[in-house]
Amino acid sequence: MKPRLFSGMQPSADSLQIGNYIGALKQWRDMQDDYDAFFTVVDLHAITVQQDPQELRQKTRRTAAQYIAAGIDSTKSTLYVQSQVPAHAELAWVLSTITGFGEAGRMTQFKDKSQRYGTDKTSVGLFTYPVLMAADILLFQAEAVPVGDDQKQHVELTRDLAERFNSRFGETFTIPTATIPGETARIYDLQNPSSKMSKSAESQAGVLYLLDDINVTAKKIMRAMTDSEGVVRYDRENKPGVSNLLSIQSALTGQTITQLEEEYAGKQYGHLKQGVRDAVVAEFEPVRARALELLEDPAELDRVLADNADRAAEVAEETLKKVYDRVGL
Ligand code: ADP
Ligand code: NA
Repeated sequence: MKPRLFSGMQPSADSLQIGNYIGALKQWRDMQDDYDAFFTVVDLHAITVQQDPQELRQKTRRTAAQYIAAGIDSTKSTLYVQSQVPAHAELAWVLSTITGFGEAGRMTQFKDKSQRYGTDKTSVGLFTYPVLMAADILLFQAEAVPVGDDQKQHVELTRDLAERFNSRFGETFTIPTATIPGETARIYDLQNPSSKMSKSAESQAGVLYLLDDINVTAKKIMRAMTDSEGVVRYDRENKPGVSNLLSIQSALTGQTITQLEEEYAGKQYGHLKQGVRDAVVAEFEPVRARALELLEDPAELDRVLADNADRAAEVAEETLKKVYDRVGL
């Protein structure tokens, strides 16, 4: 039997961005043959901040379509919408009863957000978000959890909760491991290359969206922020813009950073941008076309997602039943 893998993304925008693609989707696609993988659109996580109901439903569908368009095969992997499998919320409740209040309060992502928005504008759901994430992972007895390094602390909490439950109630959960992509798989905003590119960024000018018109994408790349040195070399600290462009091209073409530096030796930033543009356009064009095609038949897409949710629910119910039994429910 193949080891289990769990990962997911929030449907928090109409389109995913190239960081989601390089840092998550592309890696998921490459891992799906070696794992029994569960890829989830985590809409229960998305409602921890206010959402428009109509728009949320639309974003959920669009996110799922982009998973498939990027190569997640719903006959190999299980690709479903979190809220369609009730066991996520049910296990989260049980896990919340063995999570320390202080322990949850130490999660840096919550601390950042509650400081930024104030505790009255921060929901209890946002506070318990990591517990729901623990339930997501543990339901499937996942061994591998590919996540960005900002989620590493949440996977650590998941491991702690699994070990605590196992020692209190008997062996129940597999202890998962976070698999973190390398430094060059992290993509930064093209206009603000010291901050991570994000699909929910305030300004879209430096974000490469999978579903953008391909000409818009090309223009954004040609306008990317660089520096005045005029030498194409990788130096994250002093040349964040140029380094970011090199990371993007390297991730998409498989060439190493060193190979690219040699290729661009003596050339100008315009050449680098053209190279990046060509690589991104070649990668995005078929993905975008496939996603738009899938979205033209929402009934068929919903049917695929419902089938996959049934498959996920079967596995999840098995774990939940064991948990209830152990706890005395
Ligand atoms: P976003 O900031 O776009 O909303 P999330 O925080 O929801 O993205 O992350 C979803 C997945 O995409 C995670 O696995 C995360 O590591 C990956 N990811 C997001 N942004 C980037 C980025 N800029 N570079 C690399 N990976 C990223
Ligand atoms: Na997310």
